[in-house]
Amino acid sequence: MKYLIKTWGCQMNALDSDKMAGLLQGMGYQPTEEEREADVILLNTCSVREGPENKVFTELGRLHPLKRHKPLILGLVGCVAQQEKEQVFKRAPYVDLVMGPRGVRHLPELLAQARNQRAIDTQFHDDSILFPDQAIARTNPTKAYITVMEGCNKRCTFCIVPTTRGREVCRPLEDIVKEAHRAVNAGYAEVELLGQNVNCWREGDRGFADLLAAVSDVAGVKRLRFTTSHPRHFPLAAADLMAERENICPYLHLPVQAGSDRVLKLMRRQYDKAWYLELVRRIRERIPHIALSTDVIVGFPTETEEDFQHTLDVVRRVEYDTLFSFRYSPRPDTPAAAMEPVGDAVARERHQRLLDLQMEIQTRRFAAVEGRVVEVLVEGESKKGGQAMGRTRDNKVVNFAAERPVAVNTFVDVRITRSAVNSLVGELA
Ligand code: SAM
Ligand code: F3S
Repeated sequence: MKYLIKTWGCQMNALDSDKMAGLLQGMGYQPTEEEREADVILLNTCSVREGPENKVFTELGRLHPLKRHKPLILGLVGCVAQQEKEQVFKRAPYVDLVMGPRGVRHLPELLAQARNQRAIDTQFHDDSILFPDQAIARTNPTKAYITVMEGCNKRCTFCIVPTTRGREVCRPLEDIVKEAHRAVNAGYAEVELLGQNVNCWREGDRGFADLLAAVSDVAGVKRLRFTTSHPRHFPLAAADLMAERENICPYLHLPVQAGSDRVLKLMRRQYDKAWYLELVRRIRERIPHIALSTDVIVGFPTETEEDFQHTLDVVRRVEYDTLFSFRYSPRPDTPAAAMEPVGDAVARERHQRLLDLQMEIQTRRFAAVEGRVVEVLVEGESKKGGQAMGRTRDNKVVNFAAERPVAVNTFVDVRITRSAVNSLVGELA
């Protein structure tokens, strides 16, 4: 018996897929890349924007004919499944199984049911956070993702995540630390803590900085990362730790979303531009060499040119090393979907200006690394082939020529000789 899982979206989805793969393997299934060979195909979906959501139904339609040849179980799981619930069976009647992100742990029962009748689980199970991590079939060769919390209690007016992933639940510290030990024993030097609002993790009177300290104390964790941080709750104690501890990587993803106070308020982000810039100043004061990245939404309803200028101003002032930008996409039953849209042409034009600005900043920031020797964790071959590829501690991709073979998951020193917009080029030092 074989399975195939296709994954869209964020790191949490990637980890959910590894969890499902582990459960399937525990049931005796083998992985396959061949659709025709698979007895179970699961599409693990993302609904954060409309584009990927629609693609999933096209994909289901394309896979449907495979069912003519054998008793294939076709499942729609993840955020689109949670959002559409029973509607999935109306839109695609040939789907056998529908499961939300908080149901992952119950996949085996659901699969057994799906053999006889349609199976659906879109409950927000609180025990999903207690997933036995020994069962995870990790696909990332160099990084062990570790769930620390699930769900989100924020109500950003543009965002579907609270609807699809439910209320926040935090994982016990002890379980997280045990998983970090197991990851190290399995050969991982890098771990990344995951949560929609990772810095809202808490247990009794312990907060995110305590969690970070405990995982950083695990012997063998050479690189520790975490995502996603919410600016409103990012504790400066965590920045102090990042400054002090060698193994906590100097890289922080701090989504700003917009620069205008009026828009930030409409988004319900719980900070304004000055507050965010002051947070960045305090973080940089502690960790001057930190690399920052962010998410920006362009063309949020009612956004004026003046509002957008504030976004550009934040980007200019902060000088992010990486920026992920999205045109606003209305999501069902979110407050922003009822607000006045700005129009596609305006949003596209603003998006391009933002990309141009970031390109200019990023080119400069990447060029500043030329001539330096950096520590790289080897991930494999470069995208174009012929070279090795890895990442710096501050998360920049490095492609480098290596005369001697370099093993995946080892550290090497690389002298940077050239830079591009999104990567660095070098040679073994
Ligand atoms: N929890 C994170 C946070 O605090 O921002 C990330 C949530 S979301 C999965 C990832 C990114 O998608 C967001 O930071 C936002 O920039 C973008 N996003 C979310 N909803 C969107 C929408 N309706 N339209 C466009 N982009 C959106
Ligand atoms: Fe979405 Fe805002 Fe939570 S962006 S995931 S509602 S912090």
